[in-house]
Amino acid sequence: MFDTIFNPTALANEEALDGTNPLRHLMEDQQPEPLPTNAPSSRYELLSALPKQSYTVEDGILQLTFQHGHPTIKQPILATLTVDASPGCGGVAWPAGQILASYLVQQGPEYLKNKNILELGSGTGLVGLVAALLGGKVCITDQVPLLDVMRRNVSINNLSSSVTVAELNWGSPIPKGIPRPDLILAADCVYFEPAFPLLVKTLSDLAPDAATEILFCYKRRRKADKRFFGKLKKNFSWKEVDDDPNQAIYNRESITLLRLTKLLKVQLA
Ligand SMILES: C[S@@+](CC[C@H](N)C(=O)[O-])C[C@H]1O[C@@H](n2cnc3c(N)ncnc32)[C@H](O)[C@@H]1O
Repeated sequence: MFDTIFNPTALANEEALDGTNPLRHLMEDQQPEPLPTNAPSSRYELLSALPKQSYTVEDGILQLTFQHGHPTIKQPILATLTVDASPGCGGVAWPAGQILASYLVQQGPEYLKNKNILELGSGTGLVGLVAALLGGKVCITDQVPLLDVMRRNVSINNLSSSVTVAELNWGSPIPKGIPRPDLILAADCVYFEPAFPLLVKTLSDLAPDAATEILFCYKRRRKADKRFFGKLKKNFSWKEVDDDPNQAIYNRESITLLRLTKLLKVQLA
């Protein structure tokens, strides 16, 4: 796959394959070990760190319930999502997005207050929608095929007054209408190697300095993923979020929640 970065024909072939199976880059390299019959599996354990969910097959609606103890907002937080994999892998709510959304719920409305929040690679929009349900002002972004699902999800959650939906292709100039974010959210955006430098560029363009907060939830699937971090380290440092009580549970499923910080570039005289 690395060849596709330099070879437009190979990239076109990759994109054609994506059309036949939008989820293929999100398959793990190794098949999981068979579950031991007498031991709890980290995969089952992960369910305890995710919001409770119910899915209606007929209308493709997923309802996620986030419990919390914040007195100033509705208990619990309910996010209702249209899920539809036909426009691409983002049409499904991935565990890393649910982990990041759950972390925001634990942090509560005070954490998001008065911040311009922007989500990259929003897919269904789950993370950004939860930020808005907590009272945040949010812009959710993705590529054109996902925008319709995202708009439907803004509407069914009655969030049109606090959430905008925008096209943002990684690596392209940041569209004029997108406000400069104080907080950037990204979940499960590391899976397709040709997009690695594009995502790093967009993060760099959106975060002029270390004051921009970035929460980045990542699921490691294959060895090549580490090349993303090789590129990222030229512009960012990172630290694992360590105040999430579910950290050990999702770490065991190769999911990590990071806080990225833009590096200060020293100007040479
Ligand atoms: C695995 S999905 C994750 C979706 C969502 N964040 C979640 O956690 O459920 C990756 C998302 O990144 C988006 N994406 C991939 N490449 C992109 C690019 N070059 N520019 C913008 N978005 C992109 C996809 O459309 C998709 O919605």
